Amino acid sequence: MGAGADWRAAPREDRRSGLSQQRKCVGPVLRKTCFSVCVATAGFVLLLGVSLLYLPDPYKPEQFVPEEKHAVTLLIWTHPFGRYRKLPNCSALYQIGGCTLTDDVHVYPQADAVVIHHRDVATGTADLPPEPRPLEQKWVWMNYESPSHTSGLWRFEGVYNLTMTYRTDSDIFLPYGYLLPRGSKTEGLNDRFAHPLLAPSRSHLLRPRLVAWIISNWSESHARVALYHQLRRYIRVDVFGRAGRPLPEDSGGSVVRLVGRYQFYLALENSQHTDYITEKLWNAVRAGAVPVVLGPSRQNYERFLPPEAFIHVDDFPTVRGLARYLLMLRRNPARLKRHLDWRGDYSLHQPAFWAEHYCTVCRAVRRTRGRADSVQDLTRWFHS
Ligand SMILES: *[C@@H]1O[C@H](CO)[C@@H](O)[C@H](O)[C@H]1NC(C)=O
Ligand SMILES: *[C@@H]1O[C@H](CO)[C@@H](O)[C@H](O)[C@H]1NC(C)=O
Ligand SMILES: *[C@@H]1O[C@H](CO)[C@@H](O)[C@H](O)[C@H]1NC(C)=O
Repeated sequence: MGAGADWRAAPREDRRSGLSQQRKCVGPVLRKTCFSVCVATAGFVLLLGVSLLYLPDPYKPEQFVPEEKHAVTLLIWTHPFGRYRKLPNCSALYQIGGCTLTDDVHVYPQADAVVIHHRDVATGTADLPPEPRPLEQKWVWMNYESPSHTSGLWRFEGVYNLTMTYRTDSDIFLPYGYLLPRGSKTEGLNDRFAHPLLAPSRSHLLRPRLVAWIISNWSESHARVALYHQLRRYIRVDVFGRAGRPLPEDSGGSVVRLVGRYQFYLALENSQHTDYITEKLWNAVRAGAVPVVLGPSRQNYERFLPPEAFIHVDDFPTVRGLARYLLMLRRNPARLKRHLDWRGDYSLHQPAFWAEHYCTVCRAVRRTRGRADSVQDLTRWFHS
C-alpha cells in the first residue's frame, strides 16, 4: 500500500454527524423508524453543533474598565515574515478603543505588551526584545503555522506571557475563520467584515463542475498528495496552483470565484494537528463548495462547523467509498442540499492578517492587565 494508506494516519473518531447516522439506515423495514430517529438525531446534533461553535475573543463583550486602565500601547516587534504592513486603527476598524499600535522599537520601555511573531525570531531574522523587560509588560507569542512547520520552540520555554494562535485553547484565540450564527449579538465587532452565507439555490445545487483542489506546496510526503493520487483513480479532480493549472490571479477573491464553480473542494491541510484548520476550508465555505476535509478529526472540525457542513475523509473506510459518495451527491441534488442548508443561518468571518490579530491582542492585554501570566510548556502544549 505504501503512501496510499498513509493519508488516514489519524485514528477514526466517533462520528456525531446526522448524515453518517443516516447512511446506516439501509433495511427497508427499518427505514421509516430509522428515518424519524435520524431526523431527530440530525436536528439535535445540529442544535448541539450550533451551541458548540467556538467564537474568538472579539465576540466576548468587553467589560467595563476604568479610564486610567483603558489605554494600551502595543509594540509589534516584527512585521510577520518581514513583510511590512501598515498598522491598523483598531477603533475605526473594530471599535476597539484605546489602542496605540506601533512598530517603533524606541517605545519598548513604555509598551504594555510586545507581539512577537514566532517565525521571525525562530529563524534569527530578529532577536527577542532585550531583558530585563519592563515590569508588567506582556510578551505575546503569535504563530499561525502548524507544529510541523514551527521550529525551535524549545528555545522559547518560559519566555512568553500569552499565546496567540488558531488553537481554541490559546490565551488569545483567533482562528483562520469562524461562523457567526445570524442574528446573534456581535458586540465589540462590527459585522461588516462578515460574509452572509446563503441557503443553496437551484443553480447552486446543479453546479456543473465536480471537485477542485488548489495546491501550492506539492510534496509526495504529505498525506494530502497520497489522498489525491487515490481519489483521481475514481473521479475527476481539477488541480490548480503551482502544482497544477495556473490560477486566474493569485488573490483571495479570485480563488473564491474559481471554487464557486465547483460542488466540492478538497480542503486538505499540509499537516494534521489540533484545531489546525486554515483558509483552505473557509474559502470553500465562502464559495459554497462542500469542503472535503483532511486535517484534525471530525470532532475537532465540529468545534468550528455544523457536522453536515463538511465531508471528512475519515467518514469513509476507503477513498473509493468517498469518491462514490461524491458521485452519489452529484446525482442527488436533494441529498447535496443537506450539506448546504445550514448556510442560511450563518455568516462567515475571515480575520484579516494581521490587522484583526493586533487589535484582538490589544483587547486581551487590557483584559489581563495586572495579572501575572507565564507560558511554561510551550512545546508540549503546541504539539498536543
Ligand atoms: C482612528 O479612528 C478614530 C475613529 O474613526 C479616529 O477618531 C482617530 O483619530 C483615528 N486614529 C488615528 C491615529 O488615526
Ligand atoms: C513544503 O512542504 C515541505 C514538506 O513538508 C516542507 O518542508 C516545506 O517547509 C513546505 N514549504 C512551504 C513553503 O510551506
Ligand atoms: C512574563 O513572563 C516572564 C517569564 O515567565 C515573567 O518573568 C514575568 O513576570 C511575566 N510578566 C507578567 C506581567 O506576567
